[in-house]
This record gives sequence, structure tokens and C-alpha cells, in this order.
Amino acid sequence: MQARGKRIPYSVAMDNITIVRHPLIQAKLTKLRDRNTERFQFRVILEELTALMVYEITRGFPLREVQVQTPLESAQGGELARPVVLVPILRAGIVMLDGVLSLIPNARVGHIGVFRDPESLQPVEYYVKLPPNLTDALVIVVDPMLATGGTAAHAVSMVKERGASDVSFLCLVAAPEGVRAFRSTHPRVPIYAAALDRQLDEHGYILPGLGDAGDRLFGT
Ligand code: URA
Repeated sequence: MQARGKRIPYSVAMDNITIVRHPLIQAKLTKLRDRNTERFQFRVILEELTALMVYEITRGFPLREVQVQTPLESAQGGELARPVVLVPILRAGIVMLDGVLSLIPNARVGHIGVFRDPESLQPVEYYVKLPPNLTDALVIVVDPMLATGGTAAHAVSMVKERGASDVSFLCLVAAPEGVRAFRSTHPRVPIYAAALDRQLDEHGYILPGLGDAGDRLFGT
């Protein structure tokens, strides 16, 4: 007989990191981890998974009341009260963008390209384009992997320097080392992930992880 499975708490919050363990999210993440998942499928699932994550993490976003005319009469409804700005970290973050935009199509989008200098190990910016007026925005910085935490922390510092005060970091898989490093720079910025994995290997890959997200997405 087939195992009937077990119920799990669908989100676990600790130390300002929330692991969203919704069954659909975990099932899609498992497909991403699978080395046999092909590029096209990997990309589609990554977008879907991101959309599900966004559905979860926007629960607390403030609504403002609006009136609309139905075909029959006027009805009271709601719309997001504050502008949303998405900031994917190049390059894998770009594919997450479509997942977020499928639910928040009006969001403005910034881009941050940062790489880690192999000698100094310091983050180096190679492309930065952010929308103006971040002060009132709900900013979500997105990158599928929170590995060493250096790039993510640097990207969040950049949006804060441009005036953002309400910033979240959304990833799919996080490593404990990355969470600690990120925390030490941004203790109050909430992190959302679908999984907190075991550790980093000596090359900075997350274990068990899902491999190099960019390579799997773009075939590099
Ligand atoms: N970036 C990735 O794409 N994968 C990892 O495991 C770590 C960083």
C-alpha cells in the first residue's frame, strides 16, 4: 500500500527567517533538487515555486479600501496600499522575477548584478539599476540561493542606501552559514526560504541544495 504521508506545519518562523513548508512548495522544491529535472521544467517550476512563496510572504502586506463598480452595483474592495519593488540579483534572480510578477504585475523592478572577487572575496557590483523613491516601497530582494550570504547582504545594503526601509529577502534554499552572515549585517530584514539546508561545501555550494541554479536555468 502507498504511504499516506504526514502533515507538516506549513511555515516555521525562527530568528527572523521563515521557512515556508507548504506541501505544494515542498513538492516543487523536490523537483528542483532532482538532478534529472530538465532545464525547461526547472525554469517553469522555479517560477511557480516563487509565485507560491510570494503568495505566502505577502499575507501581511497592508491593503487600502477601494470602491469598484460591479455590473450590478458598487462594491467595496481592496488594493495593495504601498508600492512593491522587486530586486532580482543577477542572474538566477531574473527567473524568479516572472513568478513574482505573475501575482504582482504592477511591481516596479530594479536589478543588481554583483559577483564575489575571487581574491579579495569582496562583492563587486557590475550592474545596478534601481527605481527611484524606494522610501515608501515594500522592497523584495530575490535570489534563489542564500549561500555565503555576502551577495544578498550587499544587495540589501544597496537598496537601503537608496532609502528603502522595508526590505525582505526571498530565496528558495538557504544555508545556515549564509543566514548567519546575512543576519550579522541585517538583523531585522526578514528572510523567507523554502528550505534551510545543512551546510556549504568548500566551493560555496549548498548541500544538499539543487546545484548551480544559474547553470541549470541557462545551460551554462
Ligand atoms: N549558488 C547556487 O546557484 N547554488 C549553490 O549551491 C550556491 C550558490
